[in-house]
Amino acid sequence: MSIKKISKNQPDNFEFNSNNLINIKKIISNYPKDRHQSAVMSLLYIAQRQNDNWIPLAAIKCIAKVLDMPYIKVYEVATFYSMYNLAPVGNYFIQICTTTPCMIRGAYNLVEACKEKISKNEKELSKDKNCSWTEVECLGACVNAPMIQINDDYFEDLDKEKTIKIIDQILEGKKPKPGSYRGRTNSEPENNRKTLLEKNNA
Ligand code: FES
Repeated sequence: MSIKKISKNQPDNFEFNSNNLINIKKIISNYPKDRHQSAVMSLLYIAQRQNDNWIPLAAIKCIAKVLDMPYIKVYEVATFYSMYNLAPVGNYFIQICTTTPCMIRGAYNLVEACKEKISKNEKELSKDKNCSWTEVECLGACVNAPMIQINDDYFEDLDKEKTIKIIDQILEGKKPKPGSYRGRTNSEPENNRKTLLEKNNA
């Protein structure tokens, strides 16, 4: 598991934009009046989306103020969960699952592809500052291992060569197709195999 990196370059201020303020109001209203702090994870997520995929410390302060809770409590949540980025990750943030099922199916070959194409170290921006990569724990797509997540999309059934092709596309500003790269629909068996119909006691 990687260590949370907090950016040394921090903006002085952060404010939610008007659309997000409306959104936040709605989210907070889902909780009882004395439980507004329960909205902290949603607000961190919204701040991250608004701020190019990462949460500056000023946003943590802003959320603490909005939810009337101590800064350190918001900071604790932001630093605990791996889905919150506390440093710039670029427009394309690649998360490589290296938990056991992905690892034994070759996840570290995908790590090699990222090291070659993006940056030598994880959580380090590429030369054009457009993308970065990191190792993460299971992303819940083990049946299509090994896999990566790029922003909101999953790319599955990968190997090093296919990962390089995907990265090349994003570096060229193209949008690669998410899903299985062995031609499967979702996680269906390959070659039209119907295990339960074809094998007794399968
Ligand atoms: S182990 Fe990689 S998605 Fe579950």
